[in-house]
Amino acid sequence: MAVIMDGKALSEKLKNNLKNEVEGLKNKGKNPCLAVIIVGDNPASKIYVNNKKKSCEALGIKSLEYALPADTTEEKLLTLISSLNEDESVDGILCQLPLPSHICEKNVINSISPEKDVDAFHPENVGHIMIGDYTFLPCTPAGVMEILKEYDIDVSGKNCVVVGRSNIVGKPMTMLLLKENATVTVCHSRTQNLCEFTKKADVLVSAVGKPNLITADMIKENAVVIDVAINRLESGKLCGDVDFEAVKEKASYITPVPGGVGPMTIATLMKNTVTAAKKKV
Ligand code: GUN
Repeated sequence: MAVIMDGKALSEKLKNNLKNEVEGLKNKGKNPCLAVIIVGDNPASKIYVNNKKKSCEALGIKSLEYALPADTTEEKLLTLISSLNEDESVDGILCQLPLPSHICEKNVINSISPEKDVDAFHPENVGHIMIGDYTFLPCTPAGVMEILKEYDIDVSGKNCVVVGRSNIVGKPMTMLLLKENATVTVCHSRTQNLCEFTKKADVLVSAVGKPNLITADMIKENAVVIDVAINRLESGKLCGDVDFEAVKEKASYITPVPGGVGPMTIATLMKNTVTAAKKKV
């Protein structure tokens, strides 16, 4: 049976360290501040934004929430971002995705000042990640790397398979694993015979959003299995991409959903906000 990797506990540990850093900044007269924008009422987004706000409060980071109606125009949103870019007291700006379909996500991401882009979604920051020289960590992939580090899992030279090629997770995840000298294969919705790839993975990272996509027969004995997805079943229960109950019997390490990668994403966001604030001291 696999070791269940406790992302919740690790995130608390990291956030506790950050709390001390925030206190130090405040003693120097710098009060870190994160502005969070949410457009519309996507229930999952509301929960994520609320969790981000709660983490800020727990760490002593000031959070500004802008909850805009679903019919907000792109122009209005860009005007708000522009004023937050100009506001010296705001260190980080995050616009929760997805946005309503009439708003162009690319325009919004590009409008956030790269120095305040704590999601690391701006092309300038994405470029830094690609080169391996960055200030802002991509939140979810960096959270995964912290979990691996905590459990002494060295990916150097290992076969790592990332399922999913999103800009938020799959692509930056690939970059961080490469930086640690893994051999990385990226699979996606057009991949033929997915299990041929997953079966060869020493470390498997799934970030698709499809319950039971990864079954026990698809993994190698003693693989490390990281489940990034958060899916809500009709019953209301949360689950990831991985058939957790069966896979945990075959894997050596596995992350649960919830309580695995999710809390680590927020811990990284808090770290990026503190990084942005420190630059202004
Ligand atoms: N939607 C899903 N994940 C994220 C994230 O990490 N940041 C933002 N801004 N939106 C998201």
